[in-house]
Amino acid sequence: MFKKTTTVNIPKHVAIILDGNGRWAKKRGMPRTFGHQAGVENIRRIAIACQKLGIKALSVFAFSTENWNRPQSEIDYLMTLPSEFETKFHDDFLKHDIKVIFSGRKTKLSDTNLAIMKRISNDSQNRQGLVLNICFDYGSYDELTEAVKAIASDVKNGNLNPENITVDVVESHLLTKNLPSLDLLIRTSGEQRLSNFLLWQAAYAELYFTPTYWPDFSPKELYKAILEYSHRDRRFGAIKR
Ligand code: IPE
Ligand code: IPE
Ligand code: MG
Repeated sequence: MFKKTTTVNIPKHVAIILDGNGRWAKKRGMPRTFGHQAGVENIRRIAIACQKLGIKALSVFAFSTENWNRPQSEIDYLMTLPSEFETKFHDDFLKHDIKVIFSGRKTKLSDTNLAIMKRISNDSQNRQGLVLNICFDYGSYDELTEAVKAIASDVKNGNLNPENITVDVVESHLLTKNLPSLDLLIRTSGEQRLSNFLLWQAAYAELYFTPTYWPDFSPKELYKAILEYSHRDRRFGAIKR
């Protein structure tokens, strides 16, 4: 994994914009869904690698609020992902003590998918290992809008004085409220943008971009990203004394 002589600062919370499934498949002359299938397999591989490294939380972007703009046939395939997660991840995640949670809107997904997602999280809720946060129908605009709505409603009902709206209050309304602060945000496939993923949480995260398409992003590449993270100087606006 890492050389015994190297001191590595392991991030507590890593997020990945797992991009490039379509291009990975196209390169092989295969349909985009073939890439998504390989992408699911890789979530399993990388989650287990994160668990072994002692990372506390891994957030993966699996379907964005904007991905509904894709062709219906691709959406139909992507909507089978929760069921894929259930069948493909169950045994390994049990063995590795990985807890799964889902973040995202609950308004557009089918009842079947919502039931599967609930079952997966309920089944794994008492596990003590890595928390795998699967962001499915997730978008930061939506997350922040919902947070604003909830805070406004607390103010309206007299439960919160506007003077008391602090950073902590906002954070307590985000979907990541029970996770450590985001340390490292990785995007595969060469694109260098956030695409509406964890905008608030990324404020002081270290960013890491790689041209590798997601299905090819191996544990070895993960170690490389973590090693680079480990050498970054995180100043949070302050200066070194
Ligand atoms: C990422 O791969 C997975 C999802 C967005 C669901 P893409 O499907 O975006 O693959 P590319 O970017 O078109 O290659
Ligand atoms: C971001 O990838 C969304 C997910 C990885 C789920 P996209 O492929 O949808 O993002 P854009 O369109 O390139 O910004
Ligand atoms: Mg993409």
